[in-house]
Amino acid sequence: MNSLQHVQLAGGRKISFLHRVCEKANAPTIVFVHGFPLDHTMWLGQLPLVDQASLVMPDLFGFGGSDPAAEELSMKTMANDVAELLNQLDIARVIFCGLSMGGYIGWEFVANHEAMLEGLICCNTRATADDEMTARARRVAAAQVLKAGAEPVAEAMRSKLFSAATIEKQPQLIDSVAETICATAPETIAAAQIAMSQRVDFSNQLPSINVPALVIAGTDDSITPSNEMQAMSMEIPDATFVELADAGHLSPAERPDAFNRALMHWLPVSGT
Ligand code: MLT
Repeated sequence: MNSLQHVQLAGGRKISFLHRVCEKANAPTIVFVHGFPLDHTMWLGQLPLVDQASLVMPDLFGFGGSDPAAEELSMKTMANDVAELLNQLDIARVIFCGLSMGGYIGWEFVANHEAMLEGLICCNTRATADDEMTARARRVAAAQVLKAGAEPVAEAMRSKLFSAATIEKQPQLIDSVAETICATAPETIAAAQIAMSQRVDFSNQLPSINVPALVIAGTDDSITPSNEMQAMSMEIPDATFVELADAGHLSPAERPDAFNRALMHWLPVSGT
């Protein structure tokens, strides 16, 4: 059963989320934070992990079943929303797992909610901020989506998010991700682009991360290349790097079994 629950945050915003509780005593909780411009459904392949950990999968403000984003977004406000959701669920400590934009939000979670952090899983993401050319391209993309709607974004993402193997063998996954993107309000997509263009560079702070980290890359990820992620993992004191073969940018959805095996192998190593 995958029914969404909802909470009202302090600012009045409604956030949707999926929550599965592990029956094992002292199991950790993993909060899974989705990428751009997606929602919690990108993590449905991780539901079998409930045998080892409790799982919280929010739809960030503006995305999925959450309220549309009628206001500015930032990586920090989205990290605060995740923390507030966890507080409302009485979850004091979590392993934060973020993909791409979810990873950018993870850096803000590290910076602002360190006491809640038990471990960090960085999937297909980077710690650097945008250079001026990328930030400008995001501003152009934000203006375009407000004019042309989400369909062209979904079309462009089809070739960017997936490995060649996924494109060949998993057309249903590609269609369902496109559907998610098309269902996202253009205002949210634009606000998230602007928010990402303004995100803070976290790369100098990687050496001060004081929880175990798992860094997961895809061999065929053209957005956050595997070698860049491996270099990033080497800056984190207690990091394990895993590369998933035949995975693109959406590695947890493309190779769920391999992703889950890597995560389950790391969980006891992480000491959580
Ligand atoms: C994502 O998957 O969240 C995006 O590719 C992030 C980005 O555009 O930098």
